[in-house]
Amino acid sequence: MANRLNGKVVLITGASGGLGAAQARMMAAEGAKVFLGDIAPEGSKYLVPLKTLCDEITAKGGDAKYLQHDVSQENSWTEFINTAEKLFGKVNVLSNNAGIYLHKTLTEHSVEDFHRIVNVNQLGVLLGMKTVVPAMERAGGGSIINFASIYGIVGAGISTAYQSTKGAVRLMTKSAAMELVGKNIRVNAICPGMFDTNLFETSVPKEAWEPLISLVPMKRFGKPDEIAYGVVFLASDESSFITGTDLVIDGGYTCP
Ligand SMILES: NC(=O)c1ccc[n+]([C@@H]2O[C@H](COP(=O)([O-])OP(=O)(O)OC[C@H]3O[C@@H](n4cnc5c(N)ncnc54)[C@H](O)[C@@H]3O)[C@@H](O)[C@H]2O)c1
Repeated sequence: MANRLNGKVVLITGASGGLGAAQARMMAAEGAKVFLGDIAPEGSKYLVPLKTLCDEITAKGGDAKYLQHDVSQENSWTEFINTAEKLFGKVNVLSNNAGIYLHKTLTEHSVEDFHRIVNVNQLGVLLGMKTVVPAMERAGGGSIINFASIYGIVGAGISTAYQSTKGAVRLMTKSAAMELVGKNIRVNAICPGMFDTNLFETSVPKEAWEPLISLVPMKRFGKPDEIAYGVVFLASDESSFITGTDLVIDGGYTCP
């Protein structure tokens, strides 16, 4: 398939990461002009540098640009949205994908841990929605996709601060969807299950992997493209009657 996002300008945060980079590649292949942000645009062992990703997309005939961007800072959001509008003339879609994970028990959590994860995962999503609305209104409407998690739906027995942010993202999504429906802006959440990305590699101890995967009815990690397909659908006009919902992509994890 191609051209499902023809002419749309799509912004993706945390685009160096596993799920963000997969979205960037697939959205560009579907005809979108993609504007990519990340706090670490230079990449790392498990993160693709944004320049490399943009070059790869451009070499395949796509249109991609990037900017260093910290989702927890309001002035960084203003610069990110303004630059996208200046470069591409409009903003149609925002994937609020950036996020961090903390594999700690309740008693291990410090106040600093809590503030850090709330600032990125929760405040970052709120600021993204807040800042993008005027640009989407100028474009005649839009689609916002917020990254929650299965751990915004069910408990995990660990990582309570992370879970608090993902539960908040689901409810902020529903509230914003109601608030923005009159502006022709749809707001939906994606709830990924387990995906072997930088987040998993750098934050979840290896000894926890097997027990976690055993809880997935499909008995495997998801593949980043399996998230990207869902994001393309929510970004496209195919989902024009869908707002305020959760799209759960988890191999059945939340079924039992
Ligand atoms: N991988 C999973 O199993 C999983 C499961 C459920 C939900 N999620 C969610 O999916 C989203 C993407 O996760 P991923 O697996 O690709 O993780 P990842 O670690 O591979 O990518 C996350 C990206 O966000 C960037 N980032 C971190 N802090 C930032 C900030 N302040 N500003 C801008 N960028 C920042 C990182 O540099 C990284 O490139 C996250 O919101 C995550 O919580 C992932």
